[in-house]
Amino acid sequence: MIQLKKFVKHFIIEGQKLIWPLAAKSRFFCRVYYCFFDRSFGYEQQALIKAKLAYFAKEGIQNGTSSLLRRNIHRLEKGLIMEPRRDFFALDYILETVDVYLLASESADFSKTELDWAYSVLIEYFEAVKTTHKEVLQAKQRFDSISPRVDISSKPYSSESRKTHNIDFESFSNLTQARRSTRWFLNKPVESEKLEKIVSVASQAPSACNRQPFEFMVVEGDSFRKKVAKLPGGTVGFSDNIPCLIAVVGDQSYYPTDRDRHVIYIDSGLASMQLMLAAETLGLSTCAINWPELEKLDEKVSKLLKLPQYKRVVMFIAIGYAKPSGGIPFSEKKSAQQLMNFIKE
Ligand SMILES: Cc1cc2nc3c(=O)[nH]c(=O)nc-3n(C[C@H](O)[C@H](O)[C@H](O)COP(=O)(O)O)c2cc1C
Repeated sequence: MIQLKKFVKHFIIEGQKLIWPLAAKSRFFCRVYYCFFDRSFGYEQQALIKAKLAYFAKEGIQNGTSSLLRRNIHRLEKGLIMEPRRDFFALDYILETVDVYLLASESADFSKTELDWAYSVLIEYFEAVKTTHKEVLQAKQRFDSISPRVDISSKPYSSESRKTHNIDFESFSNLTQARRSTRWFLNKPVESEKLEKIVSVASQAPSACNRQPFEFMVVEGDSFRKKVAKLPGGTVGFSDNIPCLIAVVGDQSYYPTDRDRHVIYIDSGLASMQLMLAAETLGLSTCAINWPELEKLDEKVSKLLKLPQYKRVVMFIAIGYAKPSGGIPFSEKKSAQQLMNFIKE
């Protein structure tokens, strides 16, 4: 059976090798190839279209947050810190921003801190812009028509007044070396307070336009966790040994345009890295687990985690207390010289 599988795989690859040079010649041939010979992007493309529908159906507001509001408020903040600051900016999106702010403030379950931030920045913006452009005047009029909030000053500040830290390079470098992918854990549950702490550290990660289009789904219940942990192929042999499993889920409906289709993976990856390092500081160990882009698996995981198609599993993270005698692969790292490359014109 294994031999037969190997033979079929070999046969398919050899066949594809004949077609690839032609497909690589032009984008048209490439599209024909992915239309007729390889459907692997089909599910993802459908997810992208569903994401656009979801975005516009909710006018940029979803689950107590708004990707549109977050993006636009971020853009206003960038305008406010510009050196030199321009007399006016954001003419093309200020009305849209105030409108989405109004909608958000009318939504009962909308995040209070997100509204506070938007409110503070909008106040700052209208104080800062010096213009009689009709877009700004109209936006100001609409903004003034709603009940004011207490301005808690969630607005741009100077670099010298930001939070300080006392971690030196040596300590941080040690932390990164102490973190190693761990696959063997003690049979000990992970405290939910610790999970909350590491997720709050993950939330500090950079994300495109501060949209944070991801969530960390903790898979609960022994048998359910084991079932879900078996799905990604990379857990063979240790899936039953994972005491805590997190599905990192990226929400493609934060983006109405295809050009940003990779951002959920980048943002989720950066936040996940922070989460894994934070876990280490609390005595927990982790292992990132690959989620392959395979239609059948995607369908299965979406069903189990009750995800709409536009919410994509980016990866899983196993978390737990490391079993002291559990093996850790050596995992030789590349040197800085290998990874660095200087380029001149
Ligand atoms: C995106 C990603 C996917 C990974 N998938 C798996 C996986 O499916 N199974 C596994 O055992 N390890 C997985 N790993 C862990 C890697 O094997 C590990 O990070 C790598 O070998 C380097 O070892 P280190 O993490 O201890 O430095 C994954 C890591 C990343 C970043």
